Amino acid sequence: MAKMTEIAIATDRFLDRRAAVDWYRANRRRSAELFEIVAPEAHHDRPIPLRNPIVFYEGHLPAFSVNTLLKRGLRDPGINPPFEVLFERGIDPEDVSAVPGASAGWPSRDEIQAYGRAADRAIIEALETRDVMREDNPVLRRGLAALTILEHEPMHQETLRYMWHRLPYEKKRTPRGSPKPVLGGNPPAREAVRIPAGRATLGAKREEVPFGWDNEFEGHVVEVPEFEIDVHDVTNQDFLEFVGSAGYDREDLWSEEGWQWRVENDVRHPHFWERRDGEWVWRGQFHEFPLPPAWPVFVSHAEASAYARWRDSRLPTEAEFHRAAYGTPSGDERSYPWGEEPPDHSRGNFDFARWDPVPVGSFRAGASAWGLHDLLGNGWEWTSTVFGPFSGFEPMASYPVYSTDFFDGRHWVMKGGSLATAKTLLRRSFRNWFRGDYPYVYATFRCVKG
Ligand SMILES: [Fe+2]
Repeated sequence: MAKMTEIAIATDRFLDRRAAVDWYRANRRRSAELFEIVAPEAHHDRPIPLRNPIVFYEGHLPAFSVNTLLKRGLRDPGINPPFEVLFERGIDPEDVSAVPGASAGWPSRDEIQAYGRAADRAIIEALETRDVMREDNPVLRRGLAALTILEHEPMHQETLRYMWHRLPYEKKRTPRGSPKPVLGGNPPAREAVRIPAGRATLGAKREEVPFGWDNEFEGHVVEVPEFEIDVHDVTNQDFLEFVGSAGYDREDLWSEEGWQWRVENDVRHPHFWERRDGEWVWRGQFHEFPLPPAWPVFVSHAEASAYARWRDSRLPTEAEFHRAAYGTPSGDERSYPWGEEPPDHSRGNFDFARWDPVPVGSFRAGASAWGLHDLLGNGWEWTSTVFGPFSGFEPMASYPVYSTDFFDGRHWVMKGGSLATAKTLLRRSFRNWFRGDYPYVYATFRCVKG
């Protein structure tokens, strides 16, 4: 069986304390750099109306670590119990009316940062010296709580990045040394490949991976019938054709829910696009560009599904994505689309290397056995699979509400990873999910027939 991750930070009885502390510190550094991008006066802004203000997240990251490792795991009293309630959990409301008022009193930024420093000291001390791996405690078994906090923080760094994406440019500063965007020319010709019927392994077996979130278990094999799938993600150029042929006016292309969202919000183009003097521009993290035709289009599930129907095709299922990304003509399955080597920057646009996408097909070394590009990185990929538990699912002891609240039939599975997905989250079994009308995330798609 192929190994699922290169980070053997924990085994059944052993946690590499030094590696855990290094990872924790690296996470905290990256979060601090992200908060530094935002102008001080904007820290109470709510760049995405359905999410908490920025200030919440600066408290949430350390509070989550305290709640999970120190309180739930080690049964400590905590550092600042009111903060650990206030900053406990993010929100995913259906509409703005359910969002707590902006007037909710948040502590000052100084208080929140002081809390973060105290939390860091206590967490590092715990990782260095405490009994964070105990067979007799389900929260600590196999280092569960430690690994939960170590993966939680980079997941939020992606949230922060796409949230910052919505801030006006005058409210953020470009970090020094940021790479220049690669706009590219025209995209490669649209092309599809036929994937023969075969097996795909979804999820992971608990004993095979050092850590996984609850929705990744249990691993199981699915028989996938033959299908045809795009080699590249749908590009801005492709999507322009849909916009140009009035795809946003044709109710017949949209699901009922998708059409309602389109009409109620007067959605007429992807959220990352803007119209300037009769031309389309792409709203990048720090600059606007003339719409790069070869970049993957970032759209909601509703838009992706309407486009696919317009092309007389559909979105792939989660199992089809697995088969296309990790399957091989010989029948073996890989850990990564390209094979067993761990992710690096020659394989895709991920792990925070860039602030914006790059042209599709930029990473030949990242192609799958069937020749598909950009399966990991450069944008999550929407699937037609409703987010739900695999057979054998159990809420995780370290964070029991991680997935269960979202098994409501209204969230869709996304696979792969984006430019802002940490490479530690690029394991095959990792699943992401969002509502179908959520247009902010770095999510693209490809089309399937058959
Ligand atoms: Fe969180």
